[in-house]
Amino acid sequence: MKRLIGPFNEIITMSAAPLRGALTEDALGLIPKGGVLIEEDQIIEVGNFKSLKGKADHIDLIKGDHILMAGLIDSHTHICFGGSRAGDYAQRVAGKTYQEILKNGGGIHDSVNKTRAASESDLTDLVKMRAKRHLEEGVTTIEVKSGYGLSVDEEIKMLRAIQSANELVPADLISTCLAAHVCPKEFNSHEEYLNHIVENLFPELKKQNLTNRIDIFTEDGAFDTLLSAKYLAQAKAAGFEITVHADQFTSGGTQVAVEAGALSADHLEATSDADVALLANSETVATVLPGASLGLGMHYSPARKLLDAGCCLAIATDWNPGSAPMGDLLIQTALIGASEKLSIPECMAGITFRAAKALNLSDRGRIKSGQLADLISFPVGDHREIFYQQGKIKPDGVWKSGTRVVG
Ligand code: NIG
Ligand code: FE
Repeated sequence: MKRLIGPFNEIITMSAAPLRGALTEDALGLIPKGGVLIEEDQIIEVGNFKSLKGKADHIDLIKGDHILMAGLIDSHTHICFGGSRAGDYAQRVAGKTYQEILKNGGGIHDSVNKTRAASESDLTDLVKMRAKRHLEEGVTTIEVKSGYGLSVDEEIKMLRAIQSANELVPADLISTCLAAHVCPKEFNSHEEYLNHIVENLFPELKKQNLTNRIDIFTEDGAFDTLLSAKYLAQAKAAGFEITVHADQFTSGGTQVAVEAGALSADHLEATSDADVALLANSETVATVLPGASLGLGMHYSPARKLLDAGCCLAIATDWNPGSAPMGDLLIQTALIGASEKLSIPECMAGITFRAAKALNLSDRGRIKSGQLADLISFPVGDHREIFYQQGKIKPDGVWKSGTRVVG
């Protein structure tokens, strides 16, 4: 059955927008008075609502002023965690740094204790609740990392919880193993811990089909560049896709990511001009995480520079209990866009098809025939309202794979 959804004052298709570099208004591929024809989970045609009417078996009529865009994609989150880190926040605003708190055994280690104390079913419920909130705000694809287990069994518990939550929420959850988040207290040597993970966890991830993605936090106090490069090479050799937490406080991670052929290098607050050039000449997506800058009271990553150099720029929330507790993709995109002077299409691309590239997905992120019918509508008549209102206007309609799941 062919279903037509519309009419919309504007459809932002981004159907022909390039994967990398700066974007101007024409990249939006706007269709006025538009409609989308859907069959099962896919878009089959996009165009003028009236001219599509004759091809539809059924019409989902949209009343009042609305715009339509592709479902949002958050390509970097840590929403599988137990407990809160409000205590860290209080310490940070009283003068301690994120890294000092981590060095003193708090920070990520605190979330590890709280996540280990939670059962798999508790964690499933928590991921479900957070994913549901994201879906209601228009995020139809959500990457979710492990990384607060830091042992073979606890990492498996987290990844199983993510897998179960994926069955319970109509968003697509894409899991990533971040066992290499920090070295757990049970191990004295970072190298010994990583070897343990490679030998004992990697085969289980494959055997139990828990994830095909591996991440590492390359940073002072986490894993150095040499160990990171070795670990990423081992992950690749074992058949995993790779991504890196790079250059959050010190540079070095981007080089590791690019040389390893990572799908994305994420954070980039401390990225140098040389690193920007490296990213621009690579296939690695540059992912900026404004939520972490806001959470830690730091400057934003150089999104403008990255785009002008020709990078593929994704924008993600980094939603986690420590550095980025807010988890609102639209608000954060509006805020970094205002500071970094990102055009509306650059912001929209960063949370749709360019974020899809960071997850190695090419079946979503644009409104055109053949793409999944992941769509969101906003109750406004002009697409500029979304970031102008700083992300406070939320979608009133969300369709995942052709099915209306919100509104
Ligand atoms: O991306 N920087 C490393 N990992 C996360 C934070 C995790 C945490 O503080 O719990 C991040 O910011
Ligand atoms: Fe992160």
